Amino acid sequence: MCGIMGYIGNGNAVPVIIDGLSKLEYRGYDSAGIAIYKPSQEKKQQPLLVDQKGEPETSGSAIIEYEDAYIEIIKKKGRLTEMIEVLGEFPTTSLAIGHTRWATHGVPSDANAHPHTDCSGRIALVHNGIIENYAGLRKQLILEGHDFVSETDTEVMVHLIEKYYNGSLEEAVRKALTYVHGSFAIVVICADEPDKIIAAKKASPMIVGLGEGETFLASDIPAIIGKTKRVYIIEDDEFVVIKSDSVVITDFEGNPIAKEIFEVTWDVEAAEKGGYEHFMLKEIHEQPTALRETLRGNIKNNMIDLSDLGIDDIFTDVEKIYIVACGTAYHAGLVGRTVLEKLARISVETDIASEFRYRDILWNPHSVMMVISQSGETADTLAVLREAKRNGIKVLAVTNVVGSSVAREADRVIYTHAGPEIAVASTKAYSTQLLVMYLLGLHLARVRGTCSPQELAELAEEITHIDELVEQVLTEEDKIKKLAEKYQGVQDTFFLGRGLDYAVAMEGALKLKEISYIHAEAYAAGELKHGPLALIDEGVPVLALITQDNLVEKTMSNIKEVKARGAVVVAICKENLQEACQECDEQILLPNVNPILAPMVSVVPLQIFSYYMAIFRGADVDKPRNLAKSVTVE
Ligand code: AGP
Repeated sequence: MCGIMGYIGNGNAVPVIIDGLSKLEYRGYDSAGIAIYKPSQEKKQQPLLVDQKGEPETSGSAIIEYEDAYIEIIKKKGRLTEMIEVLGEFPTTSLAIGHTRWATHGVPSDANAHPHTDCSGRIALVHNGIIENYAGLRKQLILEGHDFVSETDTEVMVHLIEKYYNGSLEEAVRKALTYVHGSFAIVVICADEPDKIIAAKKASPMIVGLGEGETFLASDIPAIIGKTKRVYIIEDDEFVVIKSDSVVITDFEGNPIAKEIFEVTWDVEAAEKGGYEHFMLKEIHEQPTALRETLRGNIKNNMIDLSDLGIDDIFTDVEKIYIVACGTAYHAGLVGRTVLEKLARISVETDIASEFRYRDILWNPHSVMMVISQSGETADTLAVLREAKRNGIKVLAVTNVVGSSVAREADRVIYTHAGPEIAVASTKAYSTQLLVMYLLGLHLARVRGTCSPQELAELAEEITHIDELVEQVLTEEDKIKKLAEKYQGVQDTFFLGRGLDYAVAMEGALKLKEISYIHAEAYAAGELKHGPLALIDEGVPVLALITQDNLVEKTMSNIKEVKARGAVVVAICKENLQEACQECDEQILLPNVNPILAPMVSVVPLQIFSYYMAIFRGADVDKPRNLAKSVTVE
């Protein structure tokens, strides 16, 4: 997820771009850049003649020469402030575009920062999204003589536009788009056509702001809310030609599209959170998009296929997989254990990093260490990665941050594409980590032949629609909010489940603990009677996950045990199992889904419940006490 900006008009573009990027840094901040249109200007007059002493002749006429108009690119790895330092004094110009990056392809570096230009430097482009078919396009363009200077997928776009440019930037962009698959919000300018900005959108957000004699373009409303509150929300497959006093919106083929102007009512603070009160709620609602972005490019011929990620070699002859992580990432690993054992038939051992690193491991030489880390900087997890490598074990990292320490030091990496996760409590990163567990499990099952093609196809089909099921669960928000309001005063809660439901119960309990400060205990439902049942008392809320069809009978008998001791039971159950849950005091119904995929939907009500419990208790949801977003100390 990146931040893109554009400006054309009678004001100075540079301060507008810089201000906009600063408001979009929450979308990505590993590098930043700006492309500035520099109009043609008189060259500094050089007198034609000098006298014998070499002094310039003051008499005589000089030919007035002009510097061609051009586009100046300033871009830098690091935070926006570092790019601003390089930029120095703001130049004056009527046209500029800018970008703040969340790396997806190519580590954070000056060369990989946007904007990217064509070979001539006269066309500049910024992009948010993923060009899925960039590798083939890049190869072809290099064969045709184009010089690439970055590792990014984005650079392919600007060379494609160059290839088809013959005096009309609009037509060249339209033509280039016919070759591109993936998600994009692109913004393009050309030194030879300084009266316009061309933009196009598919899957990544984009808005156009309407000013007086000036027009703005941004990923998101926060970037321009101080300049105008009249915007067009650009939708998928829309193409925009922007001038200082006009905006023409069409489809990619050029057919006009009529659009209402949206009047923004948010204030600046609310806008950064996309209108949500907290980043956590925004990120809970971003999960469908995050799942789509993480899935993108990993389905071929209706099967999950990760062969483009180059991970297969470390799994040849593999006999064991260690999954080690911390906190929420560890909980994703618990789901991963069941998924990999069930689908790929590989033995999996899971552990929390701070414990694993002090065990005297009997390493199986035919094993792979998988570390999961949203930030890619967690000290305990990094220590385990290094310990595994010291013992000659290949390491696969699953992380959300391109170029993070974990990504750089692992032998192979699978990225989640959740975009920056700002709230300390992890939600969309967890969901995309789960998705990567399924993708890896199904990929290895296909490679190892441990599942039938029909089973693989059916699960792949369900996974391609899992975002819609999450969307469906999100519509239950108000009901879950009411539940939180009812139980906001409790001091102790239990989360119960069996199998995958137990793994998700652990994540639900952590969410509640870390943002509402309520004591929450996750327990294997079958284990409660071996002691913790003594803690169950009148009115203690028990959240029971019931999504594993083959375990529902057993779980229900555990629920009867706690009900008999006065517990209040909230069932989070699949629609097809609700009959079995009649005895529960409350029911949150989930859409029916293959039990092995259930964690991706059953966690959502727990996230929402924890969020509202924290709200009702007046806690600081995005920055809970005592915690940090990335724990880089041991
Ligand atoms: C999750 O809600 C917590 N903020 C925390 O447990 C987190 O998952 C843990 O610190 C691991 O972080 P990482 O994924 O960045 O390594």
